[in-house]
Amino acid sequence: MSNLITAILHALQPWTYHLLFGSILFFILHKYGVSHIQPWFFAKIYNPWLTIYHVKLRSMKQKHFDSMKNHVSADPILRKKGAIRILEIGPGPGFNFEFYPAKSELTVVEVNPFFEEQFFKKQAEHPHIKMDRFVVGFAEDMKDVPDNSVDIVVSTMVLCSVRSIDKALQEVYRVLAPGGKYYYWEHIREYQYSWVLFFQHLLSLTIHRYLFRCSLTNRSDELIKANKCGFSNVEQQRFRTPLGPGIDKLAIFHSAHAKGIATK
Ligand SMILES: C[S@@+](CC[C@H](N)C(=O)[O-])C[C@H]1O[C@@H](n2cnc3c(N)ncnc32)[C@H](O)[C@@H]1O
Repeated sequence: MSNLITAILHALQPWTYHLLFGSILFFILHKYGVSHIQPWFFAKIYNPWLTIYHVKLRSMKQKHFDSMKNHVSADPILRKKGAIRILEIGPGPGFNFEFYPAKSELTVVEVNPFFEEQFFKKQAEHPHIKMDRFVVGFAEDMKDVPDNSVDIVVSTMVLCSVRSIDKALQEVYRVLAPGGKYYYWEHIREYQYSWVLFFQHLLSLTIHRYLFRCSLTNRSDELIKANKCGFSNVEQQRFRTPLGPGIDKLAIFHSAHAKGIATK
């Protein structure tokens, strides 16, 4: 354990001043109302920063989404075509395109408009997906998406950032057709190591709050399990993402994850 802590502190050292300076800067910008700089900054750094994460976990994610290809649409027209309608919330630059079955029709609700350009670039690499709409808006209030209208909802690492997880889940439930499925993959509050939880609290009040708008201590797994919306079935597993060498050891702060499928 102490070796791991030393390795993490060592890996953190060259970044400490940049991260602290960045957080203070964004705190000041946030306080004085210049709030569009953070989304721009986040969209710029997210893709190069998290590509490693997505490459490392690709085969696990592939397995998680695999059953989607067997889903039969509730919409008779789509069913005839062998297609399904998917809604992804908070897709960022579109890392999940590759997991969607051919002929899927995709709508996304993304709060950060600065991701739109990267998203459509990535979509061009996946012509088997038909893009319906890119809606700039909040997952907690998807008024542009009708009730009971989608077969599948997807979120990956989004519930850590929404303003209200409960409201986002209510909206997911509302838009799903009966029998529709919510596939989620989220990093969650540390459940094993109290020292990691301590740092998660610290980071969530500073760097992660102002730089990334993300709560490392979110309890999305518990809230989904509590099932206030009334899903007919929730299958969920907690898991840990593997830590790599060097700076990748910092992943310990968001290594606790939960994935699952909730059925309406
Ligand atoms: C950590 S990124 C994850 C991006 C992508 N899902 C992935 O797995 O790479 C969080 C994403 O959620 C979006 N987001 C944050 N709050 C949101 C909200 N309330 N409604 C919709 N999207 C939101 C962010 O703009 C960002 O694109």
